[in-house]
Amino acid sequence: MSFRFRVEAHRAGSWATTVVVAPGALEQAAIAIAREFRGAQKVIVSDARVASLHGRRFVRLLAVRGAAATLLTFPPGERAKTRETKARLEDRLFALGAGRDTVVVALGGGVTGDLAGFLAATWNRGVPVVSIPTSLLAMVDAGLGGKTAVDLPGGKNVVGAFHQPVSLWADVRVLRTLPGRTYRAGFAEAVKTAATLDAGLFRQLEASVMRLLRRDTLAVATMVARCLELKGRVVARDEREAGRRAVLNFGHTAAHAIEAATDYRVPHGEAVSMGITAEARLAERLTGLPSQHAERIESLLRAFGLPVRPPRGLDRKRLVTAIVRDKKTRGRIVRCALPVGLGRMVPGADPTVSVDPTRDLLPLLVRN
Ligand SMILES: NC(=O)c1ccc[n+]([C@@H]2O[C@H](COP(=O)([O-])OP(=O)(O)OC[C@H]3O[C@@H](n4cnc5c(N)ncnc54)[C@H](O)[C@@H]3O)[C@@H](O)[C@H]2O)c1
Repeated sequence: MSFRFRVEAHRAGSWATTVVVAPGALEQAAIAIAREFRGAQKVIVSDARVASLHGRRFVRLLAVRGAAATLLTFPPGERAKTRETKARLEDRLFALGAGRDTVVVALGGGVTGDLAGFLAATWNRGVPVVSIPTSLLAMVDAGLGGKTAVDLPGGKNVVGAFHQPVSLWADVRVLRTLPGRTYRAGFAEAVKTAATLDAGLFRQLEASVMRLLRRDTLAVATMVARCLELKGRVVARDEREAGRRAVLNFGHTAAHAIEAATDYRVPHGEAVSMGITAEARLAERLTGLPSQHAERIESLLRAFGLPVRPPRGLDRKRLVTAIVRDKKTRGRIVRCALPVGLGRMVPGADPTVSVDPTRDLLPLLVRN
């Protein structure tokens, strides 16, 4: 089984991403890269863990097609998604003599995608990037859409750029090596996509929890392809988040605050699970989301083994600081993208509503 489609900007000609979801997509990616980037300098960026599990094999897959590639690595984890790591990678690129005819391959989870994408966006004022997500979270969400960034100590994704991948290759077989906790974290973004965009997908997720947790190839590939298709449609219309793209931020204002307030000790997917749960409760009050819908969202996240409550004792001041620093803030009032029903967000050009962080969000995040 294999899914293949193109995500194309509505403003024709500005960008397009070819998406392939299939067991064996890694081999297909190697063939395509060797053919399409003949003569270009190929640089694979992976964290050290993914490099040893899949990166070296990918370099060999390219080599048998006559394409030499260099593997650049950095330490795994969110705490490496920094300007310092990017600078070190840039120094390595410079030492390699990489110029404008370089292609960057982001082989890894969402951290790698964001970091390598940003590296590609600024290297020689922009070189192509190929996205090969290897975590479930990156397959269903982060690998597509062109948002690239690094974090600052107090805030997520503060420095970054929009830079669309030329292609995305999701090989569901590489998920076999993903630790259970990291695998489960990926479902937070899938639940977000379903809750915001597609009630049918939401019901499908509810019906296939066990098969998905068993990493059934067909069930996982079908879910990944559907999530990417849905996200692709949104990004194609509003790449720069001038309007509707904000729907993809459901749960993320709270999630980013939890991550920053815990010094990124809570993994992103788990923070998103907590954030979605909190913001669904907020939606009950602010947009009239039926309480049964908020409960179904929480139950589905729990069914995937995800935590839905933030850790105890989060510092209120750090949370508020992170929330108001969030890029979605205007003044001290936060704009949150909230659902009105399962698969339906606040309608119109702006899907966000005004939220007072201290009054509305803090009570949902702080447990003593
Ligand atoms: N750009 C976007 O649109 C977007 C969207 C959602 C999330 N994100 C970003 O994505 C990041 C979270 O992504 P993540 O959860 O993938 O984090 P991650 O990249 O840190 O990966 C999680 C862990 O899984 C390991 N790993 C990845 N693939 C593996 C595999 N196949 N086998 C074994 N281990 C593997 C990594 O080494 C890492 O330790 C956050 O920084 C978040 O901000 C970006």
